[in-house]
Amino acid sequence: MAPSIDNSRCVLVTGATSGIGRALALAIAALPSHPKVIGVGRRKDRLAGLKDAGIDAEEFDVNADRVKTKNFVEEMIQKYPEIDTLVLAAGVQREVNFKKEVDLDAIATELHVNYFSILAMISFFMPHFMTKSASGQPCLIAPVTSGLAYIPAPWIANYSASKAALHSLCSSLRVQLEDTEIGVIEISPPLVESELHDAEGTTEALSKFWMPLSEYTKETIAGFQRGDSVVCNGMAKNAYEKFEKPKEQMVSEMAKRAATHSK
Ligand SMILES: NC(=O)c1ccc[n+]([C@@H]2O[C@H](COP(=O)([O-])OP(=O)(O)OC[C@H]3O[C@@H](n4cnc5c(N)ncnc54)[C@H](OP(=O)(O)O)[C@@H]3O)[C@@H](O)[C@H]2O)c1
Repeated sequence: MAPSIDNSRCVLVTGATSGIGRALALAIAALPSHPKVIGVGRRKDRLAGLKDAGIDAEEFDVNADRVKTKNFVEEMIQKYPEIDTLVLAAGVQREVNFKKEVDLDAIATELHVNYFSILAMISFFMPHFMTKSASGQPCLIAPVTSGLAYIPAPWIANYSASKAALHSLCSSLRVQLEDTEIGVIEISPPLVESELHDAEGTTEALSKFWMPLSEYTKETIAGFQRGDSVVCNGMAKNAYEKFEKPKEQMVSEMAKRAATHSK
């Protein structure tokens, strides 16, 4: 079955307390298929707002160690055994200037939140998804990368690198899971209206160029419903199609060659 959001029965969305994650969570909950949506984030007032909008809300800091992450995933599976879809939108963005002092703690946190926590969450959900897949139930893993995964922005060097790593992971994961019912859809936004840039005080300047969140959400849900392997828009789409799309076939061929050699 195609990995479309229309086949999802229960969707866990991280980063659901603002911006892209929140907009996708609300739009997914409003789909004609009416999947159950669980929104995850840290801010309690925002989580309460999700509940008011009819979305289950769970508090979790994804900047957690692997034991806490495993416990959280197990708790979610026990509470919501129908979970078949992950939209992994939690993310942070920090500037880094190598000509000045580099805050390695901030770099490590950014890498953890934007990459390792997502990899860990996927790996802890995987046995649950494999069981569902074996019974014919389609599952979907949708990490949120960025157009900056394909062309880095030098002033947010570590952010760009974390998203490039996540994009690479999506490509490998998709090929590894080809013979299962678990689809991988990479969501790759361009610059979009959100709170992401508040931490660096660049929101006002960027708001002159960003894609309105409502427009972004509409286009992204359409790609999600079609089951595009990479859902990207605007500049992110241009960069993906020019530099990354031609590689996707090669990733698949590399896996086939490796499988032949290991026989
Ligand atoms: N907006 C853009 O221009 C753009 C472009 C490309 C990619 N993206 C990506 O899109 C995703 C969503 O970002 P956004 O633009 O919507 O930004 P946003 O409005 O700042 O939302 C970020 C979300 O991540 C959550 N989050 C951050 N750190 C967390 C932590 N330690 N634990 C749990 N949740 C955490 C926040 O929730 P709490 O603070 O409540 O925990 C919030 O819900 C990110 O992965 C971002 O990199 C955004």
